[in-house]
Amino acid sequence: MDLLDKLRAVEQRGIPFAGLSSLPGRTTIDRVLGPCEVVIQGRPTLMFGSNNYLGLTVHPQVVAAAQRAAAEYGAGTTGSRTANGNLAIHEALEQEFAEWFGKRHAIIFSTGYQANLSLIGGLCGPNDVILIDADSHASIYDATRQTAAQVIGFRHNSAESLRKKLERLPGTDRNRLVVVEGLYSIRGDVAPLADIVEVCRANGAYLMVDEAHSLGTYGAKGLGCSEDQGVLDRVDFVVGTFSKSLAGIGGVCVSDHPELRTLHYLARAYVFTASGSPSNIASVSAALRVARDHPELRERLWSNIRQLRRGLTDIGYAIGAGESPIVPILTGDEARTVALWHELLIAGLYVNVIVPPGCPKDECVLRASCSAAHTPAQIGRALEIFASVGSLVGKAAPLVADR
Ligand SMILES: Cc1ncc(COP(=O)(O)O)c(C=O)c1O
Repeated sequence: MDLLDKLRAVEQRGIPFAGLSSLPGRTTIDRVLGPCEVVIQGRPTLMFGSNNYLGLTVHPQVVAAAQRAAAEYGAGTTGSRTANGNLAIHEALEQEFAEWFGKRHAIIFSTGYQANLSLIGGLCGPNDVILIDADSHASIYDATRQTAAQVIGFRHNSAESLRKKLERLPGTDRNRLVVVEGLYSIRGDVAPLADIVEVCRANGAYLMVDEAHSLGTYGAKGLGCSEDQGVLDRVDFVVGTFSKSLAGIGGVCVSDHPELRTLHYLARAYVFTASGSPSNIASVSAALRVARDHPELRERLWSNIRQLRRGLTDIGYAIGAGESPIVPILTGDEARTVALWHELLIAGLYVNVIVPPGCPKDECVLRASCSAAHTPAQIGRALEIFASVGSLVGKAAPLVADR
């Protein structure tokens, strides 16, 4: 088979949608009007598809910090942190994360994706076992593939399935790493971390929790689901990204294990890539302080979540059961989902669309996400658009039972 056939097959998948003015996965944002409003194809559009959970992308302190750092340090670091790319602000940001989490050590990475690659790749080798939730993010799957470790999947959010898989492993070596997410990014459901911690403890496994979507949004201090469920001190490695609540790009791992520091030399996805740019590191540091010092942002976020969920249910949409910043609208059939998504966009509302291969056939989802920066009026307007487009295209009856 020709190498390019694979690419041609992908192009062919898009043919049924070729007539649409905007294609799923190919939407261009021309301008940013505010934390929750953009211009797409010349139209002001409400943004309900961003991970800007605390609305910090345009926060004055965050933007000013980026500007100051670019003026002081220049546009980029032009090197890895193990070479010339280790600025005082990288070290300071690590210190701030460690203090925020009350953990002894923190290490930052150029992306959240690389945080997972670095941690899993640095920890696990040929004689080790990695156990991952079946619904894990692509970065977790990819991270396991670069290792020669044995990889075992367990049923999504099932501590019982994890327990069975761990109990079947021979020996008692502490060579097992369990990887879960705090809040799952497509269906917006939360891991039962207290149960998972117990199972890991009972079976001598280390636990890593990826809090990409829950950092800043869960817990009294905004540290994620581990804090929210009271198990932060029992999680070995907490991973976070900067690309959601912290409005930047990068990743972090915090831990009480001092060995974490050696990832600085060991982790290929850390050593062989340039470090975060000065403006980005400084803006993330400013965002961290805003997230830490303003718990009212989380209160506003949760009030917005309730308004959106109540409104969608009232107008007849089927949504995922768990209350979270991610509101999955269960739309089922692919053609109808894409039509609904497109009409929402034309009417001035952007949400994300999940279709195969991102989900099983007939389990398509429109993924709306909430921000603390959404105003009640913007949510009201979004609901009006959902109502009018839904009655035009069909709200996509709940073909699939919520999982
Ligand atoms: C659970 C999870 N982990 C890691 C990542 C990767 O983060 P980043 O986009 O910051 O590289 C994502 C991104 O969406 C994610 O959802």
